[in-house]
Amino acid sequence: MTHQKDYWAIDQFLTTALGRQAYKITLPCAMPKALMMMAASFIYCKVSCSDIAAVNTLETWGFHLIETNVRLQRPIVPSRSKGDFTIRTAVMSDEEEVVALAARVFSCSRFHVDPQFTNEQANGIKASWIRNFFKGQRGDTLLLVEEGSSIIGFILLLVQNEDVVIDLLGVASTHRRKGAASQMIDAAMASFHDRRRIIVGTQLCNTTSLSAYEKSGFRISGADYVFHYHGAMQS
Ligand SMILES: CC(C)(COP(=O)(O)OP(=O)(O)OC[C@H]1O[C@@H](n2cnc3c(N)ncnc32)[C@H](O)[C@@H]1OP(=O)(O)O)[C@@H](O)C(=O)NCCC(=O)NCCS
Repeated sequence: MTHQKDYWAIDQFLTTALGRQAYKITLPCAMPKALMMMAASFIYCKVSCSDIAAVNTLETWGFHLIETNVRLQRPIVPSRSKGDFTIRTAVMSDEEEVVALAARVFSCSRFHVDPQFTNEQANGIKASWIRNFFKGQRGDTLLLVEEGSSIIGFILLLVQNEDVVIDLLGVASTHRRKGAASQMIDAAMASFHDRRRIIVGTQLCNTTSLSAYEKSGFRISGADYVFHYHGAMQS
């Protein structure tokens, strides 16, 4: 994220992935008219669900509510659970298989549910996101779950001081409900047993992932509304 002003920043990752200028704004701020008047710009803003004044402001400016992002966390404790899957750290030669998997497993992200983005664009964002791990631009560890010679799931992790963040988690639709996600979360905690907490954000409408995190011992710690604004070009 490149900071330009106190209240807005260019999101370089999204700008590249979408092929149009993408900005993040932070309230409180004056109406970002210059950004809003730019053709084909995309602006997003996250506000606490308790900040109704900010919600009213964004609605007045013409931003659209896209999703409610739920934050969850749990303490890290090394797990003794054993699963059936093989879990290993990603290597460079995994790149294309993991990118292809990331491009097809998500359906609830804010890009997937925003009707202004095509499914292809939304899938492309997730593919670019995980590709950035292989470019050394995002994430500290990528764990993969394998069945036979196929990669059927991944968990991308970031370390932020005492916290480990689940940045992306996905399991192939053909292999769900077999414990792969739970086993990857356990493996993540085992890898980072020296850290304090593991945290994640997911969509309120993503009941499957909420159930998976609850099953793995996560508890809700907060929630944000996510708003999008699409500039003059409405696709
Ligand atoms: C969310 C996701 C990663 C779960 O992966 P998974 O390997 O199927 O999960 P697990 O098999 O480990 O399931 C763990 C628990 O989650 C819950 N769960 C998982 N899928 C569920 C479903 N379809 N309905 C209800 N509960 C479900 C259950 O409590 C399950 O435990 P149980 O099977 O013993 O009852 C997978 O559905 C997925 O890839 N979804 C799309 C990508 C995504 O949304 N990722 C999360 C973004 S933050």
